[in-house]
Amino acid sequence: MALPKSFDTYQPTLETRLKSAIGDRGLPFYDMLRYHMGWIDQEGRPSNGSWGKGLRPLMCLLACEAVGGEWRKALPAAVALELVHNFSLIHDDIQDGDTERRHRATVWHLWGPAQGINAGDSMRGLGTLALLREGVNGHSKEKLFVALEALESACLEMIEGQYLDISYENRTETTIDEYLDMISRKTGALMECSFYLGALLGTGDMGVVDSFGRCGRDLGLVFQIRDDCLGVWGLEESTGKPIAADIKRKKMCLPIVYALHGAKGHDKKDLCRMYNSRNAAGDDEVNEILEIFDRVGAQIYCQSLAREYCGRALAELEGIDLSTSMRSELSELATFFLEREH
Ligand code: IPE
Ligand code: IPE
Ligand code: MG
Ligand code: MG
Repeated sequence: MALPKSFDTYQPTLETRLKSAIGDRGLPFYDMLRYHMGWIDQEGRPSNGSWGKGLRPLMCLLACEAVGGEWRKALPAAVALELVHNFSLIHDDIQDGDTERRHRATVWHLWGPAQGINAGDSMRGLGTLALLREGVNGHSKEKLFVALEALESACLEMIEGQYLDISYENRTETTIDEYLDMISRKTGALMECSFYLGALLGTGDMGVVDSFGRCGRDLGLVFQIRDDCLGVWGLEESTGKPIAADIKRKKMCLPIVYALHGAKGHDKKDLCRMYNSRNAAGDDEVNEILEIFDRVGAQIYCQSLAREYCGRALAELEGIDLSTSMRSELSELATFFLEREH
């Protein structure tokens, strides 16, 4: 499952810009950030860990190019998006109690939650600064203001989503609509912002910019539904996260929200009993839950819902004048979101 080929063009420049945006400002504090990005190990030695897929900045640069802009002009926004995304991951791992991400120990697991909060906060600050400091080059102050407002609004909405996500844990009556609203905020908002900012910095046509934003939001839903599936059925060697972690912690991911509504008789009673308990699920419970997911067809349901949003996302761009090659790269990106294994 490949990412669009333009990503190979953007990647090296993006990584260089990210490294200089983080810097070290003379404090070992920044080692936590560089560790999180996979550039150094826990002892500060160079490392070739991964800083992730870089999807949000790549979406931003692709959208800029797709609407006829010069992708380098969207680099400050792309860097800002990736830093804000990594802020959310560092805090998310504290909130979810996860000890592993991208095949490595999480920041809070090594340095403790208090320093993890500091690391996340600084990522967010650096993200805003990246946009402010470099964004003036080649763009009007007015456009920069719109971009900054979009980024801050997306960040706020993402945090609202995190709030809802945590408040739904053990809440067995969560509906599919509530779940969709939650993921639209926690993941859709920043993906909307990624396409929106890229298009904004590539064209003055706000109708096109808004369509890209809506497309990005729907792709965010596809992405998170697939993430939920990988959190249940994904393999640790591909995802870099422990197997079935979301089930063990009883997160309200889509498979369980669906199964709680679709299961009948004993299955329903058993699921409610297990999810009403605040204890983490043991191996036997995990197997029982997985068997119920099979019986209600949870995986098929999740994948077909993701496919529906994928179609909706691409339909948003139908009326826009795009080159054949850019349209096909955008559609490859959507397929990656739908079928990815990591
Ligand atoms: C993980 O996002 C968090 C979610 C919104 C599901 P990614 O899977 O894009 O994270 P990295 O940056 O590639 O590791
Ligand atoms: C992550 O959601 C969303 C944000 C970080 C805003 P999850 O908690 O579902 O993502 P992973 O599986 O830990 O990456
Ligand atoms: Mg998490
Ligand atoms: Mg989470």
